[in-house]
Amino acid sequence: MPKENKPKKDSNKNLHNAKKGKNDEFYTQLEDIGRELNHYKEHFKNKVVYCNCDDPRVSNFFHYFSYNFEKLRLKKLITTCYKNQSRDLFSNNQSDKAIWLEYAGDKNNDKVPNPEEIGVHELQGDGDFRSKEGIELLKKADIIVTNPPFSLFREYVAQLVEYDKKFIIVGHQNAITYKEIFKLIKENKLWLGYGFKGGAGHFINTKYEDYATASDHKEGMIRVSGVVWFTNLEIKKRHEDLMLYKSYTPEEYPSYDNYDAINVNKTKDIPSDFDCVMGVPITFLDKYNPKQFEILGMSASAGYSEDVVGIPFLGNKDARPLINGKNTYARVFIKNRKLEV
Ligand SMILES: C[S@@+](CC[C@H](N)C(=O)[O-])C[C@H]1O[C@@H](n2cnc3c(N)ncnc32)[C@H](O)[C@@H]1O
Repeated sequence: MPKENKPKKDSNKNLHNAKKGKNDEFYTQLEDIGRELNHYKEHFKNKVVYCNCDDPRVSNFFHYFSYNFEKLRLKKLITTCYKNQSRDLFSNNQSDKAIWLEYAGDKNNDKVPNPEEIGVHELQGDGDFRSKEGIELLKKADIIVTNPPFSLFREYVAQLVEYDKKFIIVGHQNAITYKEIFKLIKENKLWLGYGFKGGAGHFINTKYEDYATASDHKEGMIRVSGVVWFTNLEIKKRHEDLMLYKSYTPEEYPSYDNYDAINVNKTKDIPSDFDCVMGVPITFLDKYNPKQFEILGMSASAGYSEDVVGIPFLGNKDARPLINGKNTYARVFIKNRKLEV
């Protein structure tokens, strides 16, 4: 498997566990939030930000926005806490009832969000982002920012799209191959943000075993590689051309048996002079500039409907692109727009 495509063993185990057992309790570090959100500052002015999967006792999203409220010139910050079950600063019950918080900025000029400045309201239900109450709060918001449960990622994104919301959210790059998510990418309704350092995140974790190697292990953290930020807010990166420096040769870029396209193993090796369809790794999307490339479709082992694949399937059963009868990995089919005549 080309290095670019290969998920790390440890992280995959973490991810599978998260999906299998709905183990969604790991928390994003403040520095990772700050590093990404630094690129979106101009979007927040006079906006209502909603973090809808965020227990304020542990959520660094709440921390980031409440402490940077004035700097970002926010209008309001809303946070809902899912199934709040313990006595703390913001709640006094042990039930499944959740709370939502609203913060409208520093009132006493101490530059710190104090409990008396934060409105705490009880919810009737458990704070599920899909609940009627959750949706009412969603409707009030302009930008949704959080790390949602990976196990509900499809539903989570579908809801944001249904209510036509702007968002910056954490997810796993595997979600790109979900046909619902890929369609949004293809239609330029969702794209990748700047990302985590080295393509992996360390998340605050008190529950799960960390399978990271000794050198990658951090105390109290779980390492997940392949985590990315998804957004539909404009960012500079999306308008930067990928520098191409290679030329096409049939030897280096063989054609597939079952698709009329050539295979490119690494995004950086996309030939600059090839004007027909190319199959590139899904990690290409991190470099995707819609003015430079057109996304036609995607192919992976799962097999997709024609509208997702985007180009004619010339084989008989294996949907994954084959070269001389051998499987490659998931591929996004693209064309270089700059070579169009
Ligand atoms: C990956 S964690 C991230 C938590 C927090 N957003 C952060 O980044 O630190 C996902 C969170 O979503 C919460 N959650 C799970 N199912 C939910 C649901 N249906 N509605 C709202 N929140 C949910 C979990 O309790 C968990 O705290």
